[in-house]
Amino acid sequence: MHFYTFASSDKVLFETDKYYKMGFKEEIQRRRTFGIVSHPDAGKTTLTEKLLLFGGAIHVAGAVKSNKIKKTATSDFMEIERQRGISVATSVMGFEYKGRKINILDTPGHQDFAEDTFRTLTAVDSVIIVIDSAKGVEPQTRKLMEVCRMRKTPVMVFINKLDRSGKDPFELLDEIENELQIFVRPLSWPISNGPTFKGVYNLYEEKLNLFSGEDKQNIEESIEFKDVNSPELEDYIGDQYANTLREELELITEVYPNFENDDYLSADLAPVFFGSALNNFGVKELLECFINIAPFPRVISAEERDIDPFENKFSGFIFKIHANMDPNHRDRLAFVKICSGSFKRNTNYLHVGTGKKLKFPSPTAFMAEKKSIVDEAYPGDIVGIHDTGNFKIGDTLTEGEVVHFKGLPSFSPEMFRYVENADPMKYKQLAKGLDQLMDEGVAQLFTNKFNGRKIIGTVGQLQFDVIQFRLEHEYGAKCKYESIQMHKACWIQSEDKTQIEDFRKRKYANIAIDKRGREVFMADSPYALQMAQSKFDKINFHFTSEF
Ligand code: G4P
Repeated sequence: MHFYTFASSDKVLFETDKYYKMGFKEEIQRRRTFGIVSHPDAGKTTLTEKLLLFGGAIHVAGAVKSNKIKKTATSDFMEIERQRGISVATSVMGFEYKGRKINILDTPGHQDFAEDTFRTLTAVDSVIIVIDSAKGVEPQTRKLMEVCRMRKTPVMVFINKLDRSGKDPFELLDEIENELQIFVRPLSWPISNGPTFKGVYNLYEEKLNLFSGEDKQNIEESIEFKDVNSPELEDYIGDQYANTLREELELITEVYPNFENDDYLSADLAPVFFGSALNNFGVKELLECFINIAPFPRVISAEERDIDPFENKFSGFIFKIHANMDPNHRDRLAFVKICSGSFKRNTNYLHVGTGKKLKFPSPTAFMAEKKSIVDEAYPGDIVGIHDTGNFKIGDTLTEGEVVHFKGLPSFSPEMFRYVENADPMKYKQLAKGLDQLMDEGVAQLFTNKFNGRKIIGTVGQLQFDVIQFRLEHEYGAKCKYESIQMHKACWIQSEDKTQIEDFRKRKYANIAIDKRGREVFMADSPYALQMAQSKFDKINFHFTSEF
């Protein structure tokens, strides 16, 4: 039985550890920069940790703390601060595995910080989505997949928690295809689940991985098993499971096309793996397949032109900014994804946003949990640079060319509040604090054009609490919120000057500008939005800032 074929584009395997001798091209080709995402509790943190253990980046379980803020901690600000500290340490986890340089980009687990996750996805070259086998596709999974689809990011799926009773695997595959709108191809297949879970058949390597019955903590046997029709299968898993497995594998070959690497790379098809992160089932299979098929850094579209990672000149963009937790040091750490050329320490680069030339004496590289100063970094790598307040999310650095990278969208927020100054003596501090927090991407700020009032838009309640807390502790400013009846903010744009003028006149009280000075319609109800859309048919109402 043949389940897969490889595309020829990515066959470079490196089994040596003499990376320092490699050329620029090889350095790029061996990088795998990806994110693991899931709906909270599906097992993202556990899987990340197991991958790091396999990669030898950490040596004990429990080293990667969950960076999710537990539901009970909604108002526990110390917890938020603690979590922010952890998330700096685990923001980027780099390690070497079989000649590959793997960079895992961590994403916040809490739904209220979903926007952070979306932005981090702009800096990855591929994604692993974790799905809980009992719960199937959940709301956050859908949203994350939407972002991957927008960016055509190759996606692999890991169906987790097979040690528990869950949904039927075929049902799960259908659910993924229908709800995530992507073709799927299983590359491993579970033999039963829950208490009777026996193991996984690895279709990719044609191996049978069986787990010990007692604690199911270890792979008991991993057997090369090319012909599942061999009667030996019965010896390993018994008549009933052997027959079921054969039938199911038969069905897979009938229903799903052979796995073509190109379909995965073009983001049309997601290979699917089954396992249990907690018990280490199927994690190694996932990692082995990942390093073989996942893409190295790809061409990235800038507004001006496409940028190839293999170009000699350096370019990169900032996808995340982290404020220092120490109130005595206001500096921040900006995370730069290198897109082309090589980034060098102490070299002058153009900050496209301001036109300033800047150089960075101590850029940070992230290897596992350690941070160290790096002299040179390559496309796919993330470097942390010290920022005294110059940078905004989405800013570009180059060797001189003016380019703006596309695809760092702000999403239409879902919750809104007026923000007011609560201490008249601290007006300046508040303005600065709000400005910097928005640059960091903590939330979005809109200014109503009619009355000049400032409105903060977020995706979750927790962001309001974080803003208030950080304004007070980092900027010495006090803010208060006032509730506001609002449904959605959408960016408006039209070629029809008469219609947009008419719209501005009629809706003057509901028009605001965002931080970049673009016009936004603040619809106070779904009905108001619907009416506006049907009445003003020449106006485009955008739900993300990227259009
Ligand atoms: P997240 O980052 O996606 O939010 O999920 P996380 O890894 O924190 O896992 C959520 C819960 O699911 C954890 O339990 C974790 O131990 C459990 N889990 C992860 N993988 C598996 C698996 O393969 N099988 C089973 N049965 N459970 C799994 P918790 O009780 O919420 O946290 P903890 O106290 O164990 O840390």
